[in-house]
Amino acid sequence: MTFHDAVVYQIYPKSFRDSDGDGVGDLRGIIDKVPYIASLGVDYVWFNPFYPSPGHDNGYDISDYCAVDPAMGTMEDFDELAATLGAHGISPMLDMVLNHVSTEHEWFRRALAGEQRYRDYFYIRPARADGAAPTHLPTNWVSKFGGPAWAPFGPVDDDGRPLSGEYYLHLFDPTQADLDWHNPEVRARAAEVVNFWRAHGVRAFRFDVINLIGKTEPLADAPAGTDDRRVYTDGPLVHDYLHELNRASFGQDPDSVTVGEMSSTSIEACVGYTAPERQELAMVFNFHHLKVDYENGEKWTLMAPDIPELKRLLNDWTLGLQAGGGWNALFWNNHDQPRALNRFGDAGRHRYESATMLATAIHLLRGTPYVYMGEEIGMTDPLYTSIEDYVDVEARNAFHALVDAGRPPEEAFAIVHSKARDNARTPMQWDDGEHAGFSDVEPWLRPTNQAEINVAAEEAGGRILPYYKRLIALRKELPVISEGLYEPWELDDPDVLGYLRTHAPGGGEPGARLLVLCSFRDHDTEVRVPADLAAGRVLITNYPDRRPESYAERPLGPTVRLAPYEALALIVTSPDTL
Ligand code: GLC
Ligand code: MG
Repeated sequence: MTFHDAVVYQIYPKSFRDSDGDGVGDLRGIIDKVPYIASLGVDYVWFNPFYPSPGHDNGYDISDYCAVDPAMGTMEDFDELAATLGAHGISPMLDMVLNHVSTEHEWFRRALAGEQRYRDYFYIRPARADGAAPTHLPTNWVSKFGGPAWAPFGPVDDDGRPLSGEYYLHLFDPTQADLDWHNPEVRARAAEVVNFWRAHGVRAFRFDVINLIGKTEPLADAPAGTDDRRVYTDGPLVHDYLHELNRASFGQDPDSVTVGEMSSTSIEACVGYTAPERQELAMVFNFHHLKVDYENGEKWTLMAPDIPELKRLLNDWTLGLQAGGGWNALFWNNHDQPRALNRFGDAGRHRYESATMLATAIHLLRGTPYVYMGEEIGMTDPLYTSIEDYVDVEARNAFHALVDAGRPPEEAFAIVHSKARDNARTPMQWDDGEHAGFSDVEPWLRPTNQAEINVAAEEAGGRILPYYKRLIALRKELPVISEGLYEPWELDDPDVLGYLRTHAPGGGEPGARLLVLCSFRDHDTEVRVPADLAAGRVLITNYPDRRPESYAERPLGPTVRLAPYEALALIVTSPDTL
């Protein structure tokens, strides 16, 4: 399968490189950096949206799906970027935000103007006759950015009630109106968008919050007093609509690669989305493993990550998708998450060790790894000290909600600082200059520690970047990584993530067995080693000075002692051991 040995690099275009001195990243900036991207050895580059947008949710509120935002460049720039990447064997992966459109999109404007055809593109519902505020809203659903998920459709009276008596659904910001996929015309329009980009040669797509498109009619309340997202998530229609989209667009290209972003999802649903015979998607992102530092499932809390729970989730998902023939996208970071290095590692004293350990944990796993820009040089959360440093609507809303709920501002800030999406959206740190080599002027979001952490320093003698390149190359060299079977190892160990991969190709070719051990602790830990791997070769480790190239001469005992945040992968290659 084309994507089993692939690695995807994610670029947040607004923050990668500013070529025209307006403080905002752009497509020509990315073109300048293609040699760097190619040097990583990746196969795809996923670009967050660069389409025209009023920018209330940084480009996820799209006002035209089939154009380039003038602040980012032109269609010619995009074609040149795709061709430049293509010359290095890299394919662009475009972000398709088809659950909702900007309220400035022509479709919503025409709905507002009263055109029935476009009203039918959206969820527009009358107020409930029975209730006082807020129960007059069509359902009790909560927006993922806070507040109710319904906003007045059209002008409002002095009490903020719509003169039309109607509300429209927005599961995200009020400027992002949910599209009603029950309408076949909406589904045809969605396929047209994908086909527009296919005509520009694009073969890879990421589908934003796509498990929200199959809402069950009639829209029903979540159980009283809860924000139970299951009422609108992973409905059975999602599978039908994805299959239909697949057949009408990307599925016509044998080399297409797709990934769906699945919020609040289940293993069972994701097997369905990705088992090849179902012709839906190639792979999925799920987020359960990135909620192990949410106290009682609440994002805006301060909590150390629950490592046993993290291990359980990674294991359950890997085993579950393997058993069902599905495929996972593997990631720690993206533009919506604080830096994993700060969450699961030690971004200070053990920055190199924890960055490389985290990378090892997912790059040798069953699935397709994603690297989010800056991760490969060990970028950290910015050293911000005030909510004014943050731009993101979600972070600002959360800060004010926490303060309104009575939290002291310092505490509210500490919480937001630990979880904010902008933590990952600071400019890529190319060098130690005032603007981090990102721009000649003040960037839209402030970098803070480029003096210590930057690409130039890593290229000149850093240890994180070369480690990532090696991991990326290994996936292509060894079928045991791209195709091998997964089994957990020492699942009950509270500190060390362990797993085995086995590949038995048959036909007399030697097979391979791989053991991966990753310590999530800043102290030494001892972990068991299976007998057949005690004499294995060291495939990769982040403590190369402490490990021999192979244990063939002097095998390990029944256990091995791991250093803080150590990653150790041992391999044996022999038909006999399989
Ligand atoms: C996805 C995107 C996020 C965006 C949201 C709404 O979760 O990754 O950035 O805010 O969808 O489009
Ligand atoms: Mg610019």
